[in-house]
Formats: sequence, C-alpha cells, structure tokens
Amino acid sequence: MKTIDSLGELRGRRVLVRADLNVPLDGTTITDDGRIRAALPTLTRLVEAGARVAVISHLGRPKGAPEEKYSLRPVVGRLGELLGQEVAFASDTVGASAQETVAALGDGQVAVLENLRFNPGETAKQDQERLAFAQELAALGDAFVSDGFGVVHRKQASVYELATLLPAAAGELVLREVDSLRRVTESPERPFVVVLGGAKVADKLAVIDNLLGRADRILIGGGMAYTFQKALGFEIGQSLLDETKLDVVREYMERAKANGVELVLPVDTVVAPEFAPDAPATVVPADQIPADQEGMDIGPETARLFGEKITDAATVFWNGPMGVFEFDTFAAGTRSVAETLSRASGYTVVGGGDSASAVRNLGFDESLFSHISTGGGASLELIEGKDLPGISILEEDAA
Ligand code: 3PG
Ligand code: MG
Repeated sequence: MKTIDSLGELRGRRVLVRADLNVPLDGTTITDDGRIRAALPTLTRLVEAGARVAVISHLGRPKGAPEEKYSLRPVVGRLGELLGQEVAFASDTVGASAQETVAALGDGQVAVLENLRFNPGETAKQDQERLAFAQELAALGDAFVSDGFGVVHRKQASVYELATLLPAAAGELVLREVDSLRRVTESPERPFVVVLGGAKVADKLAVIDNLLGRADRILIGGGMAYTFQKALGFEIGQSLLDETKLDVVREYMERAKANGVELVLPVDTVVAPEFAPDAPATVVPADQIPADQEGMDIGPETARLFGEKITDAATVFWNGPMGVFEFDTFAAGTRSVAETLSRASGYTVVGGGDSASAVRNLGFDESLFSHISTGGGASLELIEGKDLPGISILEEDAA
C-alpha cells in the first residue's frame, strides 16, 4: 500500500486527512473517544512534518444536509486536548468557511472541517455526483491521507474518489488495521478461535460463511445466538429471532460438523421479562427460556465454557457483545469474554464497533489486547475476505 513516505516533503503542503471521528455522543458529550485517539499517530506525524492538516470525517448518518446533532464541533475540543495544540473548525465542508480555515493554516497546524455527510455528494449513488464532490474536496488539499479505517468499506467520495484526484497514501491507522486483520484471516496461528455476538445474525452470516473453512472454533453469543438456538428447536421465548435466517443457520451448523469446525452455542442464558436496565434477571438453561421472557446475556456456565474454549487459542478474533452490556445487570457475559481475551497469551483482535466500545467502557486497558479495531463493518468485511474500495484504491498499482 502507498504510505505517507511516498508523498515526499510535506512542509507547507495542505494535506487532507480522511479520519473516522464518528464517535458515540450523548448530546455533545463524547462517550468513547477511542476513534479520536486512533487518529493521533497520523496527525502527529503530519504535524511534525510541518504539513497544514485539514481533517475530514463523517459523524452519524445525516441525509446530505446539515443537522446540528451530527455536527463534528464536539469532537474538535477533544482532538485539540489529545494533540496538545489548538485545532480550528470550519462550519462547512467545502464552502467559504472551509476555504478560509484551510487558507489560514500555518505549517504544523490542524483544522477539522464539518461533517462530510452534510453534503449529498459524499454518499451519492451516482458516480458523477460523488466525483463532483470529491473535486471540491480535492481543491482544499495538495495531498490526501486515507486514515478512516471504519469507513474504508464504503465507496464514498472522501474515501474512494478523492484518492483518485490527489497524491494519496494510507495513514498509520489504516496500515495497522489491515496488517492486524490480515494476520487473522490469511495465516492465523492455530488454534484459531472466533467469538461472535451482537444483535443481528444477518450482519454476521458472511463472516461465518468465510470462517467455516478457516476457524477451529466459532463461539456464538449475544442476540444472534437465539436464531441458532431456535433452529435447534430450543424454546427462546421473546428473544431476538431472525426467522428468515433459520435455514441458512441450519446449513452452517451442518457445514461446521462436516468441516470439523467446533461451533459452540450458549448452554445457559440470563433472561428478563422486559428490555430494561433494572429488569429482574434469572438464569435458565439455554433451551428453556420461558415464553414471556427474553434472553439478555449469556449465562455463567456459558461464560465459563467460552473461557475454556478461548484460553488455549493462538489467535482470537472477537466481534460483537455477548449481551446487553449497556445495562450493568446484563454486562457479565461480555465482561467475562473481554477478561479472558485480555489474559490470553495468543494474538487477540477485537473487532470494532460495539465490542471495542464495550472493552473500553468496561474499563479494560487497551494494551492487554493485541489489536482493537476501530472499524465495525470494515473489520467484518476484511474478515469476510471482501475487496474494500477504500483499501484497493490505495494499493500501489491503483489509479
Ligand atoms: C461506523 O461507525 O461503522 C463507521 O464510522 C462507518 O459508519 P457508517 O456505517 O455510517 O458508514
Ligand atoms: Mg457501522
């Protein structure tokens, strides 16, 4: 992949950096600044090189027009604190404010431009519309560094087209993410154990499909497990279920058997009569969830079983929480998996999104894991073996 070195001397040059500053917000309070911190290695390097740095990012999913609740403004202060220098902010992305803000940058100074997705061209379906917006962005820079790993699976103007218009390179985060995730998928040391969770089974089907030929064990918890349990004929009460996926899931279980992949499902479940933080919790066998209750977390026996299956792994990839970890009562399963991974001696990768937030919000030290991805969808698509537009375009032989 093209690296920042390939851009040559950067002092005094305007460098556009596509970062993924899409952090969770509670109003204007950042509840997990992991993605901002992950952007620092590239930004620090560019600052030290004397570049004039304009950071571009999306936040949330606004529909091509400004919406105050999706403003990047709350992110700017935190970025400045972490960088240890003032960070300017432009109240639009390619308009007068952006142009003035970038023109005012001195060597080694940094600005953040307003949310890319306030502009319809960023996510437009038509190639021409995306290209037109990318041209407006390109006018603000002399070089482009792509470092928003969380968004490299999206063929969007600031991710894909922009890289065709300026001298382009992968940033430090993108390089590290791709290295770590390829290490897991391409030549994992064995035993290779995959832990999957999260609410939606549909999001994980392609990953399971790909891993059924590669992993030694696949452990399944979280909301997606109930569809597997239902497919086995278990009583799952009011738990999450994707009825349309029962046949696929059955086929996966058969293929696992045929391929000698150990597919491990929960043996017990923490249930509650309603989806609420203070709902009364009970532990029941996984095949006996009462008709009026729903599964909220894996049970203690399952946590112990998963621990056993993880501990001797040489490589572990984990994506998706084991339960409703946002509610303290139902966080034990996710905490237990995180704990086991943090103590495991193998190469441990946490896939982004919710599992990465869970690890940080439950108070684990990030350094206890080999790699915590900043990408949810992006890390899954890499593991699925897909070609990601935002990565391919940075390969040496790309346009
Ligand atoms: C994410 O949060 O997964 C990334 O920032 C990408 O966001 P998106 O799914 O809205 O494209
Ligand atoms: Mg996403």
